[in-house]
Amino acid sequence: MHILHTPEALIAYRKTVSGTIGLVPTMGALHAGHLSLVEHARDDNRHVITTIFVNPTQFGQGEDFAAYPRTLDADLQKLADAGVDAVFTPTPDNMYPQGYQTYVTVEHITQQLEGAMRPTHFRGVTTIVNKLFNLAQPTIAYFGQKDAQQVCVIRRMVRDLHIPTEIAIIPTAREADGLAMSSRNVYLSGEQRASAVCLSRGMMRASALYHEGERQPHRLLQAVADEIDNEPLAQIDYIAVNTARTLAPIAVIPDMDWGRGDMPNDDEPLLLSLTVRFGKTRLLDNTLLPHHLNTRAGLTQFLGAG
Ligand code: PAJ
Repeated sequence: MHILHTPEALIAYRKTVSGTIGLVPTMGALHAGHLSLVEHARDDNRHVITTIFVNPTQFGQGEDFAAYPRTLDADLQKLADAGVDAVFTPTPDNMYPQGYQTYVTVEHITQQLEGAMRPTHFRGVTTIVNKLFNLAQPTIAYFGQKDAQQVCVIRRMVRDLHIPTEIAIIPTAREADGLAMSSRNVYLSGEQRASAVCLSRGMMRASALYHEGERQPHRLLQAVADEIDNEPLAQIDYIAVNTARTLAPIAVIPDMDWGRGDMPNDDEPLLLSLTVRFGKTRLLDNTLLPHHLNTRAGLTQFLGAG
């Protein structure tokens, strides 16, 4: 496995390979969710490039950039075992040298949900992903459903900037009890970890209601909120319903400006997403409604597709 530390090294490597290239961008602290992206990339492509870079521009002031878990040696071992061809692990100075001043901004869909909580976050994500695309020139790039708004923003950027890379969306990998895998789960205490199952439990309740025909967005939101409110350690940041294709807002609790929109027709796929705090740790999760769309094919057809 090639280990590349500088943009120049990745450009040089890229010139030596031909055929399809799968790219899996990550910030490291790899878990089975990341590795499922790698497996899909391995299945689809002749070469797989993974990037490990804790990208400073997507962290806001007071967020966990310095504390973000860094486990490079273990990550490299996992990627070698998974059959990755090359790993790109640059330093912040390599990616943002002195004098750096260029950013990529996707405008409207970055203003709500995570963007409303973290105003500079998506600008950092789109900038680094665009840079990684320029360096690796992938045929297909792999992203997780776990960060559903990130997928929608990247798909928008790819269409708007005519980037010749296909985007694959891989369903969220979960722990046995339903908790979505995340590099940030290591921040949870034992007690917080036990109660964090309320996110997936709440979404399952809403999915069941949707399946029974419930289409009132506030009833779906309330079903999730009831599960979270049962857990004294959990504090809701927001629970939202948007259209899956465009993230058009439908409803959010608590009530916020960016969450007021019209209910689309009954069978328009929806994205139910939520962010819950356990102490300082924010956990994210989401699901498409109806539930059967939470597959690579369903996600690719609908999530951020229009
Ligand atoms: P990171 O949080 O490391 O995630 C890397 C990729 O793994 C993302 O596409 C994310 O959605 C996916 N992922 C995380 N948890 C997952 C899970 N439980 N199941 C499936 N996929 C999962 O997202 C980022 O890094 C950064 O924003 C990045 C895109 C690398 C840009 O810096």
